[in-house]
Amino acid sequence: MIKKLLDKVKEFDTKDDTEPRSKKLYGLAALYNTPNEIIEAAAVVAGKGYEKFDVYTPYPLHGMDDAMGLGKPKIGFLSFTFGLIGTCSALLMIGWMMGIDYPNIIGGKPFFALPSSIPITFELTVLLTGIATVLGLLILFSKMPKLNSPLNDTEFMNNVSSDKYGIVIRTNDDKFTEDTVKNLYLSTGAYDVQEIFYRESNLTTKTPIFEKKFIGAIIGTAVITAVVSYFTINYVLYDIQPFDWMWMQARINSQSKSDFFPNKSGMCPPVNGTVAKGFLPYDYKGMPDSSVKLLANPLAVSKSVLERGQDRFNIYCSPCHGYFGEGDGRMKGLFPKPPTLHSVKVTSWTDGNIYHVITNGQNVMPSYAEQVSRDDRWAIIHYIRALQKSKNAKEEELPK
Ligand code: HEC
Repeated sequence: MIKKLLDKVKEFDTKDDTEPRSKKLYGLAALYNTPNEIIEAAAVVAGKGYEKFDVYTPYPLHGMDDAMGLGKPKIGFLSFTFGLIGTCSALLMIGWMMGIDYPNIIGGKPFFALPSSIPITFELTVLLTGIATVLGLLILFSKMPKLNSPLNDTEFMNNVSSDKYGIVIRTNDDKFTEDTVKNLYLSTGAYDVQEIFYRESNLTTKTPIFEKKFIGAIIGTAVITAVVSYFTINYVLYDIQPFDWMWMQARINSQSKSDFFPNKSGMCPPVNGTVAKGFLPYDYKGMPDSSVKLLANPLAVSKSVLERGQDRFNIYCSPCHGYFGEGDGRMKGLFPKPPTLHSVKVTSWTDGNIYHVITNGQNVMPSYAEQVSRDDRWAIIHYIRALQKSKNAKEEELPK
């Protein structure tokens, strides 16, 4: 089997060598011995107005581009254009998604913010530039998907890929006639002039990647890979230790039947009065603040507690209540204006009352129990007390 495959590969490999050439001329090739000769020859050929020619050397030669009159490579324009398309489409995409389709406040930034869009914009720019450059080179300059140049496997190619320098003027050049080109070559010092004929397969329009066999092989490979991956990942892996992710264990799925409990249900409600680990139930949930019997703030006042309170207050309370609790926050006009926290009502409240409002909410103000931890709530209260004191300080309370 393997031997058969190897033979098949070898067959592919040598196919080109043995394929007979047609009568149709592709171009005239000339060989030179030194780099200087080929650069001069290229300059003469370009000077005579030939356009459909190319030079083949074993290594890049300095000055060849100028001699051939190539000018600036055009691939740069292609790369630049696609890079620009990448930049614009990324900005438009993010602008539309974040600004119009799904506007979301993230960290208080504007819906569409340039700084946070830079990474994606940069990446799309680089991606499109890269793809355009590679595909552009292959398709526009190397004439992909046509792979079979008539020059492949010629005597000429063997020479220029080892130690000679060659030039080929193609027959599709308007100025091409066999005699003039031959004389031109000889006058520039060529030591050999060769005729390059098309192969039969060069003349058929079919390129290898459009052949049914090739397309069939690609589709076949894709289907087989997809099917094998699907079964491996979804079925086979689950049966093999240690990849089964504990899939195969004795357990009861939620919503399923079980004989363990008398009511045959796989799921059981928690026993009445169960308290989740690390969770302290709030006894006054949903009750009016007059019933709240929490009196003392369990946190002692300290600089770090006040700073923590200020930090949390500025994040969670200041949008509505303002930085100083005066009810002039940034949500002005978007949410009902809260009353000042310096009223006689709030200043004479116990800490437990304020805790109740944060934990339970009050009328339109929602509960902040989910966002602010218990200790942080008490720290915020210390900070509110400090704000209140600063607003209503009496002369004698000020430090000397
Ligand atoms: C979304 C806006 C909003 C946010 C954020 C907010 N509040 Fe309120 N708050 C209100 C509104 C509106 C009221 C008035 C509710 C009412 O009608 O009784 C209020 C009332 C209060 C009261 C009672 C005042 C009174 O005189 O009855 C206290 C205390 C209070 N908030 C503290 C806080 C604290 C502390 C925070 C931060 C954890 C906070 N609020 C976050 C909107 C907000």
